[in-house]
Amino acid sequence: MMRGLPVPPARDLDLAAMERAAHAALGDMAYSYYSGGAEDEHLLDRAISDWEHHRLAPRVLRDVSVIDTSTTVLGHAIDHPLLVAPTALHGLAHPEAEVATARGAAAAGAGFILSSLSTTDLDIVAGARGAAPQWMQLYVLKDRGATRDLVTRIAGAGYGALVLTVDAPVAGLRTRELRGGVTLPADLDLPNLSAAVGDRSGGEGFMAMATKAFDASLTMADLEWLVDLAGIPVLVKGVVRADDALACLDAGAAGVVVSNHGARQLDAAITTARALGSVAEAVGDRAEVYVDGGIRRPADVVRALALGARAVLLGRPVLYALATGGEDGVSALIDWMAGELRRTMALCGVASIDEIDRSLLWGES
Ligand SMILES: Cc1cc2nc3c(=O)[nH]c(=O)nc-3n(C[C@H](O)[C@H](O)[C@H](O)COP(=O)(O)O)c2cc1C
Repeated sequence: MMRGLPVPPARDLDLAAMERAAHAALGDMAYSYYSGGAEDEHLLDRAISDWEHHRLAPRVLRDVSVIDTSTTVLGHAIDHPLLVAPTALHGLAHPEAEVATARGAAAAGAGFILSSLSTTDLDIVAGARGAAPQWMQLYVLKDRGATRDLVTRIAGAGYGALVLTVDAPVAGLRTRELRGGVTLPADLDLPNLSAAVGDRSGGEGFMAMATKAFDASLTMADLEWLVDLAGIPVLVKGVVRADDALACLDAGAAGVVVSNHGARQLDAAITTARALGSVAEAVGDRAEVYVDGGIRRPADVVRALALGARAVLLGRPVLYALATGGEDGVSALIDWMAGELRRTMALCGVASIDEIDRSLLWGES
């Protein structure tokens, strides 16, 4: 376990340049799948820029010679509050696919959440586990027997938590997927779901094809069913309302992930930068709240924690790092974010994660 460390030498990482290089490496089809949002893609930009509304109010004269970013997630020690978000189809980015991502995350001490739409079997990815937590994302399928089997496999393979995604009962109107003709290439498979998601015919985009197998009739009662079935903690991903968060906890969830699916579902939805505070306030100490969407700078991590998040999930930057550098690219991205998080904390006058609270946000405490 990492202890407190001094701030490392300053290192620049140009995320925009990395995205451009990823586009060149991925080609247009895969890049439009990874980068796209829903409808007119207004939310895609706001997801990033809305974090800017939370201005930090640094403290001074607080010994910041050593900074400790370690914390816990669902009771597990972790070097820093960074997790890799569940994203589908890593096989589009790199031949080693989710194994490379999982190894890169583990090398850099980040938690890893495997998408159930991964191109690598969940048992194989489990073999790439390090000391940091590894969880798995789930969609409840229309075929409840297949869902039950999948949940049993996930728990049996040692994944520490289930992350149930609830913001995709149907596919968003993914304009870039439609216009870019995104389909699952013939050499890639969805081994965790192959029985449930068979139709590759395309024309409507990958997500529209996959969501045909998802159960749009899901309710809080089904969440209770899943919590009983899982035997491991269940986090609910895709919540932006305080009332929904509390209902999920009443149904037995261990926590929620404030998310709008990376702006890929409802373009008119609220940004997570704006939704997080009210959800975290309502949940209080009852459970853990996580957040993703547009987190690009270490200051965004501090903002999210100050608003009440336990940790943050990183989506597209990890995909671009995978596409450009494989396992090493992923670990370099996370090492950079974790190192620069220490600098941002020092500049804010906080030496440990538990010192980050709402009073760091100007005018918001
Ligand atoms: C290419 C791509 C695929 C995704 N696949 C999934 C998925 O399979 N399951 C899921 O719950 N969320 C999925 N998401 C949403 C991410 O988990 C996360 O909410 C989002 O990417 C965070 O926003 P960011 O990309 O701005 O960091 C996907 C996002 C992207 C960009």
